[in-house]
Amino acid sequence: MSKTIIISNRLPVQLQISNGDITAIPSVGGLATGMKSVHSGGDSLWIGWSGLTDEEIPDVLAPKIDKALAEHGSSKVRLTKEEVNGFYFGFSNRTIWPLFHYFLEYSEFELSYWETYKTVNQKFADAILEKAGEDDTIWVHDYQLMLVPQMVREKRPNISIGFFLHIPFPSYEIFRTLPWRREILQGLLGSDLIGFHTYDYERHFLSSVRRLLGLEVSFNDIYLDDRVIKVDSFPMGIDYKKFHEAAHEHAQRNESQKSELQKRLDTHKKSAPDAKFFLSIDRLDYSKGIANRLKAFEYFLNKYPEYKEKVRLIILAVPSRSNVPQYKLLKKEIDELVGRINGELSTVSWTPIWYFYRSMPFENLIDLYTSCDIAWLTPIRDGMNLVAKEYIATRTDKTGVLILSEMAGSANEMNESLLINPNNFEQIADTLYQAINMPKKEQQERNGILQKRLERYNVEKWANDFMTSLVNQKEKEDVYVSRRLSVDLMNTVMNSYIDAKKRLVFLDYDGTLAGFHNDPQKASPDEALYKLLDEISAQPNTDMYLISGRDKETFTKWFLPKKYNMIVEHGVWLSQNGKDFHMLENVKKDWMAKILPVLESFVDRTPGSFIEEKNYSLAWHYRNTDPDFGQKRSVELNTVLTSLIANDDLSVLNGNKVMEIKSSNVNKGRAAMRVYAEQDYDFVFAIGDDWTDEFMFQELPDDSVTVKVGRQKTTAKYFVDNTKNVRDILARFAKKR
Ligand code: ADP
Ligand code: G6P
Repeated sequence: MSKTIIISNRLPVQLQISNGDITAIPSVGGLATGMKSVHSGGDSLWIGWSGLTDEEIPDVLAPKIDKALAEHGSSKVRLTKEEVNGFYFGFSNRTIWPLFHYFLEYSEFELSYWETYKTVNQKFADAILEKAGEDDTIWVHDYQLMLVPQMVREKRPNISIGFFLHIPFPSYEIFRTLPWRREILQGLLGSDLIGFHTYDYERHFLSSVRRLLGLEVSFNDIYLDDRVIKVDSFPMGIDYKKFHEAAHEHAQRNESQKSELQKRLDTHKKSAPDAKFFLSIDRLDYSKGIANRLKAFEYFLNKYPEYKEKVRLIILAVPSRSNVPQYKLLKKEIDELVGRINGELSTVSWTPIWYFYRSMPFENLIDLYTSCDIAWLTPIRDGMNLVAKEYIATRTDKTGVLILSEMAGSANEMNESLLINPNNFEQIADTLYQAINMPKKEQQERNGILQKRLERYNVEKWANDFMTSLVNQKEKEDVYVSRRLSVDLMNTVMNSYIDAKKRLVFLDYDGTLAGFHNDPQKASPDEALYKLLDEISAQPNTDMYLISGRDKETFTKWFLPKKYNMIVEHGVWLSQNGKDFHMLENVKKDWMAKILPVLESFVDRTPGSFIEEKNYSLAWHYRNTDPDFGQKRSVELNTVLTSLIANDDLSVLNGNKVMEIKSSNVNKGRAAMRVYAEQDYDFVFAIGDDWTDEFMFQELPDDSVTVKVGRQKTTAKYFVDNTKNVRDILARFAKKR
């Protein structure tokens, strides 16, 4: 039976050695806590790092490690101390984490970290390859493992791979500063589906793919030579039931069943029934804005002094990545801030801030969530922030106020909370005031809506949506637009080719026989191509036509001496057996004077674009422009042209990064049919890559073999992936086998 393999750096548990034995403690962090619920419910294996380095594990304990992990459905990747330093503390948390959270000044671009990151990603990929069957689904998680999808794909081209990023994907302007930006993108593109928490992260990623790799992106599909990758947003949910039920159960407890923490909280509540507890829970991370929050708290108490002795801030900070210098500094800063504020403001009966620096068992988290009136979360930047969702889920009587930073991914789905900008102290102080004074009814109305949404879009639904999308993507690939011209199908085509009495072969040039080049004049034919075309055109009873949108001067230079048959400028001109070109269609060109200035104005305003003036058409090329900008301009030009040419018999062809304006009665389909009608052909073949070739595919007789190069939508019967496949077909035609 097929299974899902979850792969992430963190496993659901972290192993520790205490008193000479192995103990497993639950991992903190959104990835591990969220995926844990998904993992426990299904048939999956979770591969990751145990949290201990090879050097830390004494030989006697080694066998116990596998056992301890197996109890949690997990399997380990072994890492040495040096690897953990370069891969985890280094590239993951000193390069990527700060960069992707817009802390550019903290990012270290250190070659040795990168080298270790690659080595360790390969280790994770190898661990997958060792365990994965061909029908298994691989789900790779987070920024520590961005090269893994491609590393697996290289060895298992057909396996299904999903990737989910749990942190923000930064804007192109930030991402481009990374020296290894292309390698990271290529690593991710080994996936079939790439998921993000929000649409913004998705759009930043697609923009980087377009700009840095120059790949074709249509809506949220990325077109590679041989595959289509889907990119989508799936906001991660929580295990709503688990938190909600735990809170219900918590409310039923009698005095003796309560935890020590709860008893302490209750005592304080009793002594000052009007006092409000503010709660913040985060890993101790600079992205969480803890220092800012402390300063804002002080600001609030100065602005609204009447709340002194009436409010208390409970800060729970979980130790995290403490080997990284920025985290050490942050710890020091927070210790000092808490000390200073408490020192300055405390009274004999009041300590404004309670500060815990530790991990807490689930039960204590519930104590805090259910006892605090206001959850106050102010990340400077956060991929999602599950704590915000967990707080709402535990509010069984629907009271409580959530104040949440706009910079958290979860803010997108939590509009009913009080959203703040974490840098705006004035706004924060006023929002705290608003929260303290919010009527119960309003609290319940807001939380009621939030709870409904969280309950519906829970972590299980999130994982199911991702998995369904991955399965659909894989299926779509198999039956994408048309059928792949497989070896078997090509054998059948060859049989017809060999048996035919009279053959007609149409070959498009750019994107079919030759790849694209920034300068169209440089995409000239190579010797190998000439050789293949020579062989095919020399075959008896075979009429081979090059059929192209190119101008006749270029094709005259490249191909007339070879005496190949040619149709150019989309069907305006025909040359047969080395004779000069003559016009196939009587076309007008008086419209050009009107359109040319329009195109020129677009060239002026779109750096990198240029006009190609052909004898009977005008083409605006935008391959060399900024991809997003070029795309936008092409839409704009389309609108302008449509209104301008309404009364002329003209049409606009949207080719591959080119728009061409020409007479409506000229197209490749019409031209191909004129040639077809000249003789009695019993084998017709046509191949091409773009929109202009669709006319041929549509008009040629039904029993023709029509082939699209690439994966876009087509009316061709078959598709092949790239120009290399086209050469393989030509080689078989040439050899007739
Ligand atoms: P991040 O993933 O950046 O750490 P999230 O808010 O998305 O932030 O996830 C944090 C997760 O860690 C939550 O599921 C939360 O319950 C858990 N957690 C946070 N603090 C503690 C703590 N002190 N003890 C145990 N679990 C914690
Ligand atoms: C974030 C990351 C996770 C990571 C977690 C805890 O949620 O997205 O990948 O596991 O923080 O960080 P740590 O470095 O302890 O794994």
